[in-house]
Amino acid sequence: MSDSAIGIFDSGLGGLTAVKELVKVLPNENIVYFGDTARVPYGNRSKKTIIKYAEQDASFLLSKGVKMIIAACGTVSSVATGLRDTLPVPFTGVVDPTADAAVRATRNGKIGVIGTSATVNSQSYKKAILSKNESIKVYQQDCPLFVSLVENGFISEEDQIVQLVVERYLEKLKNQNIDTLILGCTHFPIISRAIQNYLGSSVTLIDSGKETALYAAEILKQKNLLNNDKAPGECIYYVSDTVDDFRRTAQIFLGKNDIEDVYHITL
Ligand code: DGL
Repeated sequence: MSDSAIGIFDSGLGGLTAVKELVKVLPNENIVYFGDTARVPYGNRSKKTIIKYAEQDASFLLSKGVKMIIAACGTVSSVATGLRDTLPVPFTGVVDPTADAAVRATRNGKIGVIGTSATVNSQSYKKAILSKNESIKVYQQDCPLFVSLVENGFISEEDQIVQLVVERYLEKLKNQNIDTLILGCTHFPIISRAIQNYLGSSVTLIDSGKETALYAAEILKQKNLLNNDKAPGECIYYVSDTVDDFRRTAQIFLGKNDIEDVYHITL
């Protein structure tokens, strides 16, 4: 089983933030990625729909024989909280590893959380932070348009549209004097430069994709599931909508121009 792939899914491109980190820490692991680009965004859908989509995404990855599943999606991790118990392989979402990292990072005890509307309404990050340290002040803001920006390739910090949307959503949090901000949706690190430029360098950004990848690597080590093959791992991408748009933005974000293995599937 240890040479099987790690399965990662998200509603779209956001889970690539976990892929990018996983390739850094475990370069010889094979990865199967599923981005549900035909049904993104999940973040403004009902709980019932999000749970149904998450189950279908995980089933698809299981059909590829994966040894672990990472829900690299803040919305799924916040809302489909029972998914873990239905799976025959180790699983992690993004909330706990990310909240842990934020609690370690804050110096003034003021943490901001941004995510989709479903994530913010679920209070998942807030609850996870307070369970670790109840004296921390948590300020939340949903930023649904960030997902559309990323899915449509508006990711440059030089882009005025990106700058305007960032300012509109983050103005209140900036005034709360937070020193740590959880990017609680895996799409958001893709525009982290614009977010950091607006908030200034004194605010530490916590990337949920990155923290989750680090945590998943730990789980694989503990369970003796690391790939012993020393050859570089391969990454195969599946999407439920057109391949070309995904490939274009994935290439920019991952800093590669050779992402060949992108396939369309219908769930
Ligand atoms: N990447 C998803 C998340 O982390 C958000 C995108 C969506 O709304 O589907 O929440």
